[in-house]
Amino acid sequence: MSRVHDIVDPSVMGNEDSMYALLGELRENDPVAYFDHPDYEPFWVMTRHEDIKYISQNNDKFINNPRTIIMPQEFEQALLAQFGTKNGLETLIHMDNPKHRKLRNVTREWFKPGPVAKLTPIVEEIAREFVDRMEAMNGECDFVKDIALLYPLRVIMSIIGVAPEEEPMMLKLTQELFGNQDPDQSRGEDNTAGMAVLLDFFAYFQKVVADRRENPTDDLATVLANAKVDGEYLEELDLISYFIITATAGHDTTSATTGGGMKALLERPEQLAKLQANPELASAAAREMIRWVSPVRHMMRTLTEDAEFQGKMLKKGESLAVFYPAANRDARVIDNPDVFDIERDNRSHLAFGYGGHMCLGQHLAILEVSIFFKELLPRLDWIELAGEPKWVEANFVGGLKSLPVRCAFK
Ligand code: HEM
Repeated sequence: MSRVHDIVDPSVMGNEDSMYALLGELRENDPVAYFDHPDYEPFWVMTRHEDIKYISQNNDKFINNPRTIIMPQEFEQALLAQFGTKNGLETLIHMDNPKHRKLRNVTREWFKPGPVAKLTPIVEEIAREFVDRMEAMNGECDFVKDIALLYPLRVIMSIIGVAPEEEPMMLKLTQELFGNQDPDQSRGEDNTAGMAVLLDFFAYFQKVVADRRENPTDDLATVLANAKVDGEYLEELDLISYFIITATAGHDTTSATTGGGMKALLERPEQLAKLQANPELASAAAREMIRWVSPVRHMMRTLTEDAEFQGKMLKKGESLAVFYPAANRDARVIDNPDVFDIERDNRSHLAFGYGGHMCLGQHLAILEVSIFFKELLPRLDWIELAGEPKWVEANFVGGLKSLPVRCAFK
């Protein structure tokens, strides 16, 4: 019998081994699986690369509203009551055209490769700060808790324009929002605890918007607070949601990749040595880490017309979830997908999604991850695992919660 119900189990989906085992099983034996469970509205589970790419490319046939990520019905209903939408927020990932295109255009220029490359000196400075911090810990640290969780947060916060003293609060809020299935990170027991977290995000960013309209600077907050679409400032829900998606999407994913990338290197000393000897491979290595970790486990879409996949008919109005890590290990498209290879040609991976919603921050993510390893590795004499890695229990954005390491600096 198909284990499709495990797809929502945060302990199965949070752990790299159990997640890839489940997704591999589904991809090979039941690639278009029907998920039906009393706690959830039903949806289809898509695990083949060709299907996920097709769905992501056809944004008019497979829309993001009203269901964006898998949530229990109880939580969807609570959001509906509070915000009038099952998503709660109105971020880019919750929107469809024509609104999506207009709002994406607000920051499109800002996130292009050229402007992002200009951030290199700031990102290098923050990376150096974290490598210094690691060195100061005298050879032993929890690479995830002490470094990987905090470094991308500093980067995205400094780009947005959040003050350093407010970062710990933002980290907590983001973990509560994305990690709300993990008992260690959740604010409360029940499914509606996420609601209180959302309201805190709102309160914080409302203050930021008011400030940047009064005192514009050159940060992303100023771009967002002062952006106009069709001659008007963005509506409050759209604007605050924009901050939330940038702050949250911009750090959790990159943290997970930095931590998971380090684990992959520690388990493969020959890859670590190769990267250490060839820093020019850092960008390719970052792309491979992103494919390997695939921190965003899934996104949902809803059909606007019937469609056939692998011989099954899906009906207009039904929802589906695309599982990016499954696509990224699909041997039909990716050569030797279970091999971690920092020199791989990584054009086909779908970790950033594809099509009209493809990750806006992808160039920044690659820059951040590559710069970190470029700064760290030349200064390291050796590094090894010093304890059991632990995973966050999550079925949306997942990654390590702890990675104890021992190391010596040169
Ligand atoms: C390794 C790091 C990252 C991964 C794996 C990742 C992955 C993704 C995925 C899978 C999507 C949905 C794509 C789709 O529906 O087709 C997405 C959307 C998005 N990401 Fe990322 N992301 C990463 C880093 C970032 C960063 C650093 C930012 C920067 C602020 C960012 C901002 C966004 C935004 C704004 C969207 C919504 C785009 C839209 O719907 O138009 N992400 N990301």
